[in-house]
Amino acid sequence: MQHTPINGILTGHVEEGEAVTIRGWIYRTRSSGGVAFVVVRDSTGVMQCAVKKGAKGFDDAVKALIESSITVTGTVKKDGRAPGGYELQATDFRVTHFSETFPITKDQSTEFLLDVRHLWLRSQHLTNMLKARHFIVKYLREFFDEQGFWEISPPIITKSGCEGGSTLFSLDYFGEKAYLTQSGQLYNEAFITALEKVFILAPSFRAEKSRTVKHLTEYWHLEEEAAYFDNEDNIRLQEEMISYAAQTFARKNTDLLVHFNRKPEELLVVEPPFERMSYEEAIKKCGLKYGDDFGAPDEVTLTKELDKPLFVKNFPKEMKPFYMAIAPDGKHALNSDLLAPRGHGEIIGGSQREWEYDKLVSRMKAEGLNMKDYEWYLDLRRYGSVPHSGFGLGVERLVKWMLNLEHIRDAVAFPRVINRAYP
Ligand code: 4AD
Repeated sequence: MQHTPINGILTGHVEEGEAVTIRGWIYRTRSSGGVAFVVVRDSTGVMQCAVKKGAKGFDDAVKALIESSITVTGTVKKDGRAPGGYELQATDFRVTHFSETFPITKDQSTEFLLDVRHLWLRSQHLTNMLKARHFIVKYLREFFDEQGFWEISPPIITKSGCEGGSTLFSLDYFGEKAYLTQSGQLYNEAFITALEKVFILAPSFRAEKSRTVKHLTEYWHLEEEAAYFDNEDNIRLQEEMISYAAQTFARKNTDLLVHFNRKPEELLVVEPPFERMSYEEAIKKCGLKYGDDFGAPDEVTLTKELDKPLFVKNFPKEMKPFYMAIAPDGKHALNSDLLAPRGHGEIIGGSQREWEYDKLVSRMKAEGLNMKDYEWYLDLRRYGSVPHSGFGLGVERLVKWMLNLEHIRDAVAFPRVINRAYP
């Protein structure tokens, strides 16, 4: 049966008095004086149906509980009292499935809502987050496409970790040890020798023991890599990409911004250039000593007054992984972390890569890597190596900042954290 999306009615695309059919799920329901007022939700919006005694299916309309799936035919009427300003005066109310009593009611604990996440997805808050995330990811892809980057797909099971052993999830791969990927970067470095400019959007896994508002054990990772890019090119690309996503979202998705109490101006200010700060300047601001890493309170200190993200550049090389190129001073990495404003924390890590065979090998040995598992990676330095750079963006961290969410788990449908892999 042909049906009309609810927002088609709420945006005035249907004439008053016209007959339409909508389908969805019961969002709220009450009956009084021989009328059932059933508020229906579909993926596009929420609207009220009035089912009068005598209309086909009236008894079912009175009986059907919240979240029953239904199809309603009726005529459209403007009504200032109804949510969205329109009401459907039902002539035919059909139940596809009578729901059992829905377990989610008001004021339930966070843990309970996480246990029933598969049902909680229907809430307006999570539905809007899913829509916002869809658009943000779409704009990121759009940006890379317009810049001539190829989207490629790396393996997820790998023998070559690149972000340190402590956060690797290992698995038994038919009697051999393998890992869930922490990053597609090393494979990105192979792809650039064929395609020059590439990006990946894929899950990464971190056996993070920390319970914080910004750590997941499984997250979506957008990773870019480009041949002949140095660290400065890499930084410029990051600020252009973030600005493109923030500005396009602010211009095109004002309805979603309203839901998250975000003003478009808060994202429209995000334009190049972003401030750059050296590691030394940043530790001074935070009262840290050389070699210290930035914790969540330090990220707040650095960015709480800022409207735009901030680059912290050139960390001591000892603090960073083997693959990062080293600055001419021999002490610092040619890298940057991008911190989101207002204390949201790091959203991107990027660097120029060590592209010379001998230097790379000595760094890998110093890190105690099992060289056998990286022979393929070293081949990239044997056969036509070129200087190159890249970065990785945590999609949920970006969404958390752009929607101003308190916790990263609300930037993903089914969050995976230290104490949860269900549902
Ligand atoms: O800084 P990271 O560890 O860098 C890499 O993995 C590089 N190999 C990426 C590259 O250059 N291709 O991670 C990159 C980003 C972080 O800035 C953060 O946004 C996100 O990944 N991230 C996490 N997001 C959610 N939960 C976690 N546990 C995360 N760990 C990193």
